[in-house]
Amino acid sequence: MNDSPDKKGLAQGLTNYGDTGFAVYLRRSFAKSMGYSSEMLSRPIVGIAYTPSGFNNCHRHFPELLDAVKRGVIAAGGLPLDFPTVSLGEVFLNPTSLFYRNLMSMDTEEMIRAQPIDSVVLMGGCDKTVPAQLMGAASAGKPAIQLVGGPMLTSRYGEERLGACTDCRRFWAKYRAGEVSDEEIETIEGGLATTAGTCAVMGTASTMACLTEALGMMLPGSAAIPAVHADRLRAAEASGRRAVELIGSGLTPEKIITEASIENALRVLLALGGSTNAIVHLTAIAGRLGIEISLDRMNDLSDSTPVLVNLKPTGSHYMEDFFAAGGMSAVLRELEPKLHLDCMTIGGETLGERIEAERNLYVDRAVVAAADRPVEPKGGLVALFGSLAPRGAILKRSAADEKLFEKEGRALVFSSLDDLAARIDDPGLDVTADDFLVLQNAGPKSPSGMPESGYLPIPAKLAKAGVKDMVRISDARMSGTAYGTIVLHVTPDAASGGPLALVRDGDRIRLSVAARRIDLLVDEEELKRRRAELPPSPAPPTRGYQKLYFDSVLQADKGCDFNFLQGERGD
Ligand code: FES
Repeated sequence: MNDSPDKKGLAQGLTNYGDTGFAVYLRRSFAKSMGYSSEMLSRPIVGIAYTPSGFNNCHRHFPELLDAVKRGVIAAGGLPLDFPTVSLGEVFLNPTSLFYRNLMSMDTEEMIRAQPIDSVVLMGGCDKTVPAQLMGAASAGKPAIQLVGGPMLTSRYGEERLGACTDCRRFWAKYRAGEVSDEEIETIEGGLATTAGTCAVMGTASTMACLTEALGMMLPGSAAIPAVHADRLRAAEASGRRAVELIGSGLTPEKIITEASIENALRVLLALGGSTNAIVHLTAIAGRLGIEISLDRMNDLSDSTPVLVNLKPTGSHYMEDFFAAGGMSAVLRELEPKLHLDCMTIGGETLGERIEAERNLYVDRAVVAAADRPVEPKGGLVALFGSLAPRGAILKRSAADEKLFEKEGRALVFSSLDDLAARIDDPGLDVTADDFLVLQNAGPKSPSGMPESGYLPIPAKLAKAGVKDMVRISDARMSGTAYGTIVLHVTPDAASGGPLALVRDGDRIRLSVAARRIDLLVDEEELKRRRAELPPSPAPPTRGYQKLYFDSVLQADKGCDFNFLQGERGD
């Protein structure tokens, strides 16, 4: 809808009064009310998608970061103009933050397109914000550079280090098992998240930051810089400068996010032992540009990509250690023979040129292993297929108990999250450590909007008896900071009538990670009978964003994007 692709700065994308000269004059006069000089208003404009919020603790340092971005833009000859978009603070949203990711992406896309912006700095961090911004920017098609807030620092609890949110779960499990008192858990609660920034482990936020760097949409070395480190401000300033240089360069997101760079990002995800959520987000980002991610291909990559990073939730270190150990630069050097090195990055160099320039940088092998002596010989994630998940399910094998990988078990079924909450700690629950816990109706089409509830708690009576892990299966997601033998994203989900909806207490289910299979061992006739008896789906919402969501959301294998947002760019 731009009047002319050659127009830059304030003169582009004019409101249409049928008089172009009047529209420019009017816009400039209103812009002058903000105190800008004619010289400033004649500069190219860098928009800054700005996402602080009283409901987003992870972005609480954004005002200072914004100043640094603006400094960089002005120094390079641009005019920085920030604009607010939806912000998604992970733990403050109901039913889930994923439910609103597409809303944020639409907001971001439309504001980039609607406003007179020549390039954009995307300031995000908390879990869903970065994928939402990349999805929006990919669809908008203007030059864009991602800047993340960076991870929190850890704190101390006696001899222990505390960092959100793997330690949140670890101590809560101890509390449930009666090993931690009420007073202790309250002290721990105050020490888990003590600085600005995103969760301190390789959870979803840090995984997405690292994948964005691997994709080439972020300046080299900037994914892991802690939120409160001065280097974070320098990265912000450099991102602002680079955003000005991008204007007129033709380096738009579709030149950077390609089939090859998506495959690089997948390799990195596997080498990080990163969050399962990242598969959903990467699929959605790629889908905006018509690129499909095949779970079969992911399995091939997983078999030939070692886990290199020793970070929580699967290992022992935190993001600040990863930064000090060499960060993404070290990971990319180890993966070099497996990467597509000719992919272009936002810095204007290819990935290969970047790696060459960083050849001799420091690496701490306690945190980032060498490819010939990896943490694990194979990648952190696998996709499973079978009669229970015809279109796939995900298992984070690097966070799971290998002893449970080849196993048949009896299903104990919870029909919803409410049912789970009501019965999981019932002392009379008929459950043993060998059973498979199954949760239904927590997928993208369910009223719960695919929450991170796939990490089903170990039933209290088993937790107290020392059981630490069980096979758990659902159409839900799992926090990137969680761990266990947990089969997630079962597709199609139960709410859209997938086979998961047909599982009943006592059914046998077979898991084989080696064969990449998850099968419900019930004969076809019986399944047909159960399908005929399924209760009708609840009436869908009739208004607002909820209606849009339930009418349009796709399954996990399509990234849970909306069906009308994938594919062609929207201009
Ligand atoms: Fe924001 Fe974890 S809550 S990244």
